[in-house]
Amino acid sequence: MITVDVHLDEDSGAAMAGDVRRGLSGPRKELAPKYFYDERGSQLFEQITELPEYYPTRVEREILVERSSEIVAAAGAPATLVELGSGSAAKTRHLLSAMRDAACLRTYVPVDISEEITHETAECLVEEYPGLEIHGLVCDFEHHLERIPDRDGGRIIAFLGGTIGNLYPEPRREFLARLAAMLGPDDRLLLGTDLVKDRARLEAAYNDSAGVTAEFNKNVLSVLNRELDADFDLDAFEHVADYDADRERMDIRLRSLADQAVRVTELDLEVEFAAGEEIRTEISAKFTRQGLERIYADAGLGLAGWFTDAGADYALSLARRA
Ligand code: TRP
Repeated sequence: MITVDVHLDEDSGAAMAGDVRRGLSGPRKELAPKYFYDERGSQLFEQITELPEYYPTRVEREILVERSSEIVAAAGAPATLVELGSGSAAKTRHLLSAMRDAACLRTYVPVDISEEITHETAECLVEEYPGLEIHGLVCDFEHHLERIPDRDGGRIIAFLGGTIGNLYPEPRREFLARLAAMLGPDDRLLLGTDLVKDRARLEAAYNDSAGVTAEFNKNVLSVLNRELDADFDLDAFEHVADYDADRERMDIRLRSLADQAVRVTELDLEVEFAAGEEIRTEISAKFTRQGLERIYADAGLGLAGWFTDAGADYALSLARRA
């Protein structure tokens, strides 16, 4: 009942070295958000999702709890659920249960970067959903999207957590266009997006009073210290996160508190920082229904369902190939 295919790139270390060299060498310094998530980073993110200020995880769960059966019906009661970035599949269970109750559930395809979690999750789910067939894929889905198996009976391809907001507009369009190209007539994309709202709530969500988000952001420097033998002093940087209302996105950086030079031994690179100079570590775009309709249209998709929480803080939308 369980198969797991592994398609990991042989040399993720070399890829990281290249990414970090490019990111720290230019005039505008930047690090890719995927490097946040070592073991400590994943723990800290878990804590973020439980902070009073960080609403996205809670409201997305609220939508799944309240509206999964509507979502499954609107998607045409498909037989397969594919989930990009499935992890422990905590949220997915609401969708799987709704599909079971609608008597359409056959296959779950978790796609995740961690082989260990994918196996553990699969073992748990076959117990919880008797007869469920699980075909896991261990890969970086940005690179291996096209390995996702095609299926009869329709699919929901779920991309939850608002992660689409972490892509810049052009890579986002390309990613959505690749997803669009995979969709057959009975398939639907299910996308989680945080919505535009007042600045105070957005900024609080990324600047919690307990300082967990600051620690999470700075943890990426510890990752570089360990993986690339760098000597970042975490106390010499501060966490900065503000809302860029023109671009409708949170802009998250680390700001150097002093003139300083950091050595990245593995890259044989010395990086200079002026006091106040910043490294961008993530953007997190916030959407409107209208904006998302345009983004879908630009990627060859069409909006096919819109589900929000009671406070309209967050949306799960269904899209079909246009
Ligand atoms: N992808 C999450 C988001 O956009 C990640 C996140 C939450 C995050 N808080 C953060 C990333 C702080 C960097 C810094 O909401």
